[in-house]
Amino acid sequence: MAFPDSFLEELRNRVPLSGVVGRSVRLIKRGREFTGLCPFHNEKSPSFTVNDDKGFFHCFGCGAHGDVIGFVMRNSGLAFPEAVEQIAQEAGLAVPQVRPEDRQKADQVSTLGKAMEEAARWFEAQLRAGAGATGLAYLQKRGLKPETIERFRLGFAPASRTAMKEALLARGLPEPLLVEAGLLIKPEDGGASYDRFRNRVMFPIGDRRGRIIAFGGRALDADAPAKYLNSPETPLFHKGRNLYNHAIAREAAREAGTVVVVEGYMDVIALAQAGIAHAVAPLGTALTEEQIALLWRLSNEPILCFDGDNAGWRAALRAADRAVPLLEPGQSFRFATLPPGQDPDDLVRNQGRAAMDEILATAQPLADILWRRETEARPLDTPERKAALEAALMGLANQIKSPAVQNHYREHFRNRMRTLFAPARKAWVPGSRNWPPGRMRPGFGRPQQPEGDLGPVTSQIDRTERALLTAVVTHPWLLEEHGEVFAALAFPQAVLDSLKSRILEEASRHPGLDGEAFAAHLRQQGLGPQLDLVTGETGRVFEPFARAGTAPDKVEKGWWQAVQRYRLAELEQELAAAEADLASNTNPEAWQRFVALQAEVGSARSQVSASDTD
Ligand code: UTP
Ligand code: MN
Repeated sequence: MAFPDSFLEELRNRVPLSGVVGRSVRLIKRGREFTGLCPFHNEKSPSFTVNDDKGFFHCFGCGAHGDVIGFVMRNSGLAFPEAVEQIAQEAGLAVPQVRPEDRQKADQVSTLGKAMEEAARWFEAQLRAGAGATGLAYLQKRGLKPETIERFRLGFAPASRTAMKEALLARGLPEPLLVEAGLLIKPEDGGASYDRFRNRVMFPIGDRRGRIIAFGGRALDADAPAKYLNSPETPLFHKGRNLYNHAIAREAAREAGTVVVVEGYMDVIALAQAGIAHAVAPLGTALTEEQIALLWRLSNEPILCFDGDNAGWRAALRAADRAVPLLEPGQSFRFATLPPGQDPDDLVRNQGRAAMDEILATAQPLADILWRRETEARPLDTPERKAALEAALMGLANQIKSPAVQNHYREHFRNRMRTLFAPARKAWVPGSRNWPPGRMRPGFGRPQQPEGDLGPVTSQIDRTERALLTAVVTHPWLLEEHGEVFAALAFPQAVLDSLKSRILEEASRHPGLDGEAFAAHLRQQGLGPQLDLVTGETGRVFEPFARAGTAPDKVEKGWWQAVQRYRLAELEQELAAAEADLASNTNPEAWQRFVALQAEVGSARSQVSASDTD
């Protein structure tokens, strides 16, 4: 019996070899490989290795070598089809029924592969011929160097209905094959077939070994119906099961220790040109489960990059939700936020590689993304509302299939809730009873600042934000008195908001540390890049209260005033937005909101000026 190649490929991708081997051989992890005693010959010291990236085992003692199917065949004495069925069953994959026509299709795959390779060569040649001048000029205008164009095998499809068809037919490739490969379109009504890709810059899409299986074509006409046109699904190409740049990134990811996921072909290429070769992109859809599995074979914690606007935040949440059930010990994702409206291509072109590195260094863990979504824009001032948050968080944890990861997620969320709900130990402002106002929860009461505003980076951290955060690291005792106040500060930038939560967590876990020890501890917890971001390049602290060595009463007073100023600035922004809203919106709610904010701003102003003068 024969199985479709695509099915066997999926089987090998889905089932980690070390898991299967590990059931009968005791494996020890050594770097990216496992070693153990070879089950196929007698030995006392381990010469048997398993490599999950490559999907192969190899014994240096007896030369036994093979993939997961080969291992099960040898180890359990099964024939090929039986081994395939057993592995598929354990992985929960349905074995496709094989019909004779499928067999034929499997044979055809290699012929299709040849057609794709021929097409790629032809597109490359066109880019360098007269017909491709506009395409080449376009790529040069976008800053691509000749070696980059060559490395990614970029090409050009001329603005003709039959140029490619004629060229490939002349090379002996049959028309039906070109139709099946998605290179030609055959009209339903029986008309003559014609070139699918016309007047487009061509991006060949490779499989994980770099064999070309599809194309993406970028339109040069502004009025083309689609900016990017991709090959249709063919026996070779399934867009949800492949990644752009997989082959190159596979090598580079090993060296870099991570892989970066961006949205577009041009992003991948621009990053590679800037020296970040370990980047891949999905093929015009949201990440699929299969792509998640492929990414985890490249790195334990791939970094997903999203635009810092609303759409980007929603896309990040979609990816997070898809990954949650699949999490395994040690395997997760990190989320990097780009400046709103800029993709990685824009960023490295305008600001260079360092800007991208900074964004990658401050990528947030998956758990932080989930926490942020659940706690944001949700008032937590009653027992019922707190219970609703708990239900939402535990519901998320429940979706995780791995019991070990699920347990840790529960504990993680419980700890964070404990910190968030912890009662303040002292009244908020000496002499003032009504602070903090109940609406001062993260994000709550800021309807003008929509949930997706992940915010830009460094340059936009203002002086007060720097000082507020620096002070609690330098003087952690501030949090013993004012942890609740600090928790309630709503930093609009995700990086700062998550740093805030981590500072609170670590402070409650390790009370009584002095500033130096606390800072060292935070760095040990991997928060170095975030702290550096806050301190800025110079590390200079302007506000005396945030500096080490300042007397505690001065520290406390200064920090207070900064909190109030910060809160006032935020309220003033809200007021301005409410006022603008009134211009277009005359309903009573908008008016009430405006009036209420006006009163609040008034009282915050008088508090600021009172505490400035006392
Ligand atoms: P973007 O629209 O973000 O484009 O699409 P981009 O990559 O920044 O492109 P440039 O810089 O304008 O050239 C991101 C990805 O979404 C898919 C493609 O895979 C693209 O790389 N896409 C986009 C399509 O498949 N079709 C489209 O019409 C647009
Ligand atoms: Mn772009």
